[in-house]
Amino acid sequence: MALRLSSRAQRRQPSPIRELIPLMRRPGVISFGGGYPNPETFAFKALTVDLVWGQSLTLAGERLGAATQYSATEGLPALRALLAGWHEHLTGVAPPAPPMVLTGSQEGLYLVADVLLDEGDEVIVGEPTYPGALAAFRSFTERFTAIPLDGDGMRTDLLEALLQARVDAGERLPALIYLIPNGDNPSGTTLSAERRAHLAALAQRFEVPVLEDDPYLLLSLDGETRLPTIQSMAPEWVIRLDSFSKILSPGLRIGYASGPSEVMRAMTLHKQASTLQSSSFTQAILQAIFEEVGFTELEARVGRSMAVYRRNRDAMVEAARRLLPAEVRFTPPAAGMFLWLELPEGYLADRMIREDLDELPVITVPGGAFSTGGGLRHCVRASFSLADQASIEEGMRRLAAMIERERLRQG
Ligand SMILES: Cc1ncc(COP(=O)(O)O)c(C=O)c1O
Repeated sequence: MALRLSSRAQRRQPSPIRELIPLMRRPGVISFGGGYPNPETFAFKALTVDLVWGQSLTLAGERLGAATQYSATEGLPALRALLAGWHEHLTGVAPPAPPMVLTGSQEGLYLVADVLLDEGDEVIVGEPTYPGALAAFRSFTERFTAIPLDGDGMRTDLLEALLQARVDAGERLPALIYLIPNGDNPSGTTLSAERRAHLAALAQRFEVPVLEDDPYLLLSLDGETRLPTIQSMAPEWVIRLDSFSKILSPGLRIGYASGPSEVMRAMTLHKQASTLQSSSFTQAILQAIFEEVGFTELEARVGRSMAVYRRNRDAMVEAARRLLPAEVRFTPPAAGMFLWLELPEGYLADRMIREDLDELPVITVPGGAFSTGGGLRHCVRASFSLADQASIEEGMRRLAAMIERERLRQG
């Protein structure tokens, strides 16, 4: 059986103009097609980008031409070829079809939801999970089933039981399973190797697509070997989202999707109708970085800059152990930028912020934001990405005082 596209995606027609763009690149073709403006009218002479690592990239000539002109909806062709190589370099397997460039992986969350979800379709998510994904999915369906996470990520044993229960009851299977396999936002967990294999096997057995949203792949803090992607074990059922936001800069707004070609095609048709394409400017900058820095060196540079997060993680975990009451539970994250704190049941994180923030100015995100059904109100997400050592220490003191006030309110 093949993946089922949403009825919306099935109705969508290709853009007659956008479909001509690849043909316009053929050698010898005289094009009166497209609505490309004439580059002689463009404002840019050259673009120079200086990298913190020393290299200076200049976009002039052909590169400037690509950066300043419209391009294919799926992304600059040369960049897509490089992304396929980067993907293979990092994950050990080539993507099942050429990757599609996204305006950040957030765009991918919305596009995947658009092409796979109909009203009333069931979506499986981890609990807690990334609110940006819930927001994207909620545009199409309100039916979520949450699978709890533990220290090894999503409880795939519970997922299996749920899928089997749907089959036994003769009910429709979920339309999508969503998860963040590395340095999860917000729980900080990384899905174990066994559970990855289990999840891939479940996707194949029950024929349910998986959305593997992996912006924290390279934010590994303890230098463990990288675990296989779920996509590598079930390429026909997994759509993967990768992002450059946490490794180069979120301002680039570049991520990419990879997965079954029919899903990539359906996402492209949406993008033809919505934004035409992601910015050629930032795509050309990323292309130049790949060409001039190279995959191995780029990965090494990113790896070295993760020392900032490792230092902050260590400081926050140490401060949390020393300053927070013993009843507050947490697992030190091995990847990502978040520490997930579970306060005793009944404590209300949103109330703490509302009532105590003026006197104890420290902000964490109340756990309810990461729940599909109004749960997790006793949890908070603390991000260690930006804070320096002194503010981590002082922030944890204030949080400890806030928790104490909430304890007193419990009576
Ligand atoms: C799990 C997850 N997915 C997707 C995104 C969106 O990232 P971007 O659109 O910048 O690639 C984020 C950002 O915080 C995230 O945490």
